[in-house]
Amino acid sequence: MWTKASLCQLITEKLQDYRFIVVSNREPYIHSYSEGKIQVKVPASGLTIALDPVMQACGGTWIAHGSGDADKDVVDPLSKVQVPPQHSNNSHYSLKRVWLSKEDEDGYYYGFANEALWPLCHVVYNRPSFRESDWSTYQKVNHLFAKSILEEVGNNKAFVFIQDYHLALLSKILKEQSRNIISAQFWHIPWPNPESFRICPWQEEILQGLLSNDLLGFHIRYNCNNFMDTVERSLEARVDRDRDEINYNGRKTVVQPFPISVDFEELTAESQKEEVKIEISNLKRRLGLSNEAIGIGIERFDYTKGIPDRFRAIDRFFEKYPEYQQKMVFIQAGVTSRIHIEAYQSLNKEIESLEESINWKYKSGLWEPIIFLRETLPQATLMALRCMADFCVVSPLHDGMNLVAKEFVASRPDENGVLILSIFAGASQELKEALLVNPYATEAFADTIRTALEMPEADKQKRMRRMRSIVQENNVYKWAAEIISYLLKFEFGE
Ligand code: F6P
Repeated sequence: MWTKASLCQLITEKLQDYRFIVVSNREPYIHSYSEGKIQVKVPASGLTIALDPVMQACGGTWIAHGSGDADKDVVDPLSKVQVPPQHSNNSHYSLKRVWLSKEDEDGYYYGFANEALWPLCHVVYNRPSFRESDWSTYQKVNHLFAKSILEEVGNNKAFVFIQDYHLALLSKILKEQSRNIISAQFWHIPWPNPESFRICPWQEEILQGLLSNDLLGFHIRYNCNNFMDTVERSLEARVDRDRDEINYNGRKTVVQPFPISVDFEELTAESQKEEVKIEISNLKRRLGLSNEAIGIGIERFDYTKGIPDRFRAIDRFFEKYPEYQQKMVFIQAGVTSRIHIEAYQSLNKEIESLEESINWKYKSGLWEPIIFLRETLPQATLMALRCMADFCVVSPLHDGMNLVAKEFVASRPDENGVLILSIFAGASQELKEALLVNPYATEAFADTIRTALEMPEADKQKRMRRMRSIVQENNVYKWAAEIISYLLKFEFGE
């Protein structure tokens, strides 16, 4: 079983001569001003939450967009700061920030990454917008990231581990300018089928960018296959499905699934702390809860997450099973996201109006079926929510993996919660003991909520035990170690 310590050992023994550099758009720690003081926030991002413990084990440098209003005030002249803020000597790394103008952010992050690539890759019937100006800014920003990486690498050899769809062109730029770099890229979102992808006017450039990596990872095999099909249709490339390799333009890229995960041991240990019990009773008092059954949902408000569909299922559940009125509450926690994009603004309005109408329909005395926590909650409160829930709903319409599902499982050593999980989340490939739902099928979804509430204890425990052993074994250290071991093969033929 991979642990923080064994990953650390792998890195120290094998990567000595190499700089280890992780690159992503989102940074793991954001410094911002609040009431005149600098505060450090952890963003609501599966990617950063998963990679932070890996970097704490590996050391090295993480390069990301400095998006906080106090970020510039805490870095050194090389734009670096040591993180985590309260670190011990053997678990810290450098966060190097890349500075972007508002125009850069508009065209690259809001525009091309999140109005073109995001809806293109998630099949949720939201039309992508392809704007020439966004595309040029996306290219420009990929060059800015490349410059920052090349400065960091200098004349050294380096393993560069690129994250996600914001940086699809990066490895090509790096490889054109340095022969000392071995690169892997992990695509954290789904890859669509070739028919869907071919509407992108710059599909060739994106594929060429990704095929400049030595290793390209997706969460599940299905996405790897879609990627290989897309390449076969769009480029003069040789796709070898038996060896999971693509040969293009004289270079080879290995394409493999690596299901991302969480720090299982850490979450389990956190969930057993006394503070969590205290936080649960505080939270119950604050929310006016007594003995009601509790369902939870935790996520960024994104149209891929299926929050309106979940609310429709809750509505149908109370309609169909009125005996549960006043006996169950659903706590929806989360933060708004990408709010400059119109699709997100209308999603927020839709969620608000559904919440309002469902609560109005069933409200009785002080009881309301849906409790909304629209704020950035501290980690301790998120843990309390996971631990106090009778069931957790993770119902995306399409999702690469979804770490909320794995976090829930890792937080339940009591083996008592039920996970309701969408068949369209990558996590459903591993967590087969969850109650699987199609979020579009409201009637069956409503019935599944009842099944969760009425499941016999022994059944709950059996399912949770099985899921816990899967997440325990396939933890985030295994994810990172397998990717790094692959990179070592390129260098040492191991
Ligand atoms: O799913 C892709 C992803 O990058 C996740 O890894 C992360 O949870 C989310 O998007 C965060 O989005 P953003 O950085 O735009 O807030």
